[in-house]
Amino acid sequence: MDPVRIGFIGCGRHASLNRLPCVFYAPVELVGLCDLVEERARNLGLKIGCGHVYTDHQRLLADDRLEAVVVAVRPEAFLRVVRDALAAGKHVFMEKPPGDTLEESREMASLTEKSGLVVQVGFNKRFAPAYRRARAIVREGGLGEVSHYSGKFSTGRFPPSPGGWQFLREQAIHQLDLVRYLMGEVAELTALRNSAGGLETYDALLRFASGAIGVLTSGEHYSWNKPNERVEIAGQGRWLAIDDVIHLTEHPAIPLGTEPVSGDEPSLLWEPTFAMPGARSLLLQGYAYELAAFAEAVRGQRQEGASYIEDAWKSMQLARAVHESNGRTVRPADF
Ligand SMILES: NC(=O)c1ccc[n+]([C@@H]2O[C@H](COP(=O)([O-])OP(=O)(O)OC[C@H]3O[C@@H](n4cnc5c(N)ncnc54)[C@H](O)[C@@H]3O)[C@@H](O)[C@H]2O)c1
Repeated sequence: MDPVRIGFIGCGRHASLNRLPCVFYAPVELVGLCDLVEERARNLGLKIGCGHVYTDHQRLLADDRLEAVVVAVRPEAFLRVVRDALAAGKHVFMEKPPGDTLEESREMASLTEKSGLVVQVGFNKRFAPAYRRARAIVREGGLGEVSHYSGKFSTGRFPPSPGGWQFLREQAIHQLDLVRYLMGEVAELTALRNSAGGLETYDALLRFASGAIGVLTSGEHYSWNKPNERVEIAGQGRWLAIDDVIHLTEHPAIPLGTEPVSGDEPSLLWEPTFAMPGARSLLLQGYAYELAAFAEAVRGQRQEGASYIEDAWKSMQLARAVHESNGRTVRPADF
């Protein structure tokens, strides 16, 4: 496959540390870098040997060699940059969240549909091998009919987010998108919020369109440096758990009355190796795979389950429903 010629718009923290290194794992060629702060783009260019540096994204978009852009600006700036990129006929990989508000993500979805271009949102957890494997197990019937989901993503302090919306749309959104990826759409939910100490925690009870139920916790009352993410999915006679994105265990469910265990089957544990070279974190958290999938989508091979904006805006809809619930039962589809 011919490498897709890309440019970066936004050369801040995430672009530098997590996204730029992914170019070594994806069929892409970097042709330009842009940041409002020239020094940031220039420093990144120096590290990777790219001298085409801009401070105005329109000038980068005017480069005829460019086929696509990776947009890593703050959420408030996404709509303008994505609109300009589509108008210039360029495909877009944008970091999450898809816009500042639900309305903006809907607008980007509609602009994208009209353009026929690819706009993929950086919901990297969809490309984490453990979550992909879990989804395959669920979809292939490995758990039987799925009955229950439990998800927790609780870290330390996130940048202050008055009113909780910024936290939901920028941090909890990873978990809200993941639940849709693994379980399908949420039909209704009831959410509570705790803002003790100026930090946010949201708990939500979920009923899925499939009939399964679930519970989801996302907050900043825990720690960034300790295990902070766990997902469990139960079916009939089997359940699985994913700890900290990389440990996937399939467990048999033992019906009451058969203990002490006799004839019990063992649990199956899948874990990646860290003994091999390569930027394991970029691979296991999905960052590198999602950029490679984007390049393939630009070349006409869209990947099932990837987060294109035409679907990704619904994760913002789920975030809005959690935000508005305040103890009431609400339907995401009504927002
Ligand atoms: N998927 C993940 O795990 C993950 C992790 C961190 C951040 N992110 C997302 O990445 C995005 C960027 O976050 P960050 O922490 O790197 O922010 P940041 O503030 O460090 O970087 C943003 C950069 O964009 C530049 N910028 C803003 N408007 C611009 C424009 N019109 N043209 C060119 N440059 C422009 C700013 O000057 C800044 O350098 C956010 O949307 C964030 O949610 C995703």
